[in-house]
Amino acid sequence: MAKLRVGILISGRGSNMAALIKAAQAADYPAEIACVISNKADAGGLRIAADAGIPTTVISHRAYPDRESFDREVSAALEKHGVGLVVLAGFLRIFSSWFPEHWAGRLINIHPSLLPSFKGLHVQQQAIDAGVRVSGCTVHFVIPDLDAGPIIAQAAVPVLQDDTEDTLTARILRQEHRLYPEVVRWFGEGRVSASGNGAKVAVEGLPPGGTLLFSGEL
Ligand code: GAR
Repeated sequence: MAKLRVGILISGRGSNMAALIKAAQAADYPAEIACVISNKADAGGLRIAADAGIPTTVISHRAYPDRESFDREVSAALEKHGVGLVVLAGFLRIFSSWFPEHWAGRLINIHPSLLPSFKGLHVQQQAIDAGVRVSGCTVHFVIPDLDAGPIIAQAAVPVLQDDTEDTLTARILRQEHRLYPEVVRWFGEGRVSASGNGAKVAVEGLPPGGTLLFSGEL
């Protein structure tokens, strides 16, 4: 069966992208990384992707007069590579509503909190400040509202009394690297579907609770 062609959008170091590239190197992984696009020329992840032989493109948002014209250029690049699923991996640019509408159901993001708690930036610090005992990461469909799309899967980690933004960020990131390749696998296997009004996402053939990973790792 043809593999799902995945386009990854990054803005920075690309550790989630690297985890996806590594997963996709397995012969039986049902997705392949078709291209990596960055809005920043100095994103560290570009080198990692190029070293893995993946086509990379830089599209600087600064070169476009408004969000939608940038979004359309990114979209054209993804379409040129025959992408069927767009994966945001530390892509820190806000889209116009055109982009998520155009890619509806084929556009996902990973966010380092248990949504709907802690949206926006510095969410690990937000979790520490709120005194929560559990945080984690969420993979969700992207819709025009920021960090608000239907949840596909989550991974949970403990928040410790003496955590700093750095220690919690690192603990969550280790789970991001487990969760994201797993979710992209489900897409590659055609098992992800939204039910009802699109707010509830189901993944076929998983045991109960299969879209939640727990990690007790400190
Ligand atoms: C990750 O922690 C990701 O969850 C977060 O940026 C980091 C990117 O790291 N994304 C967001 O905060 C999106 N709202 P990476 O470049 O090493 O994958």
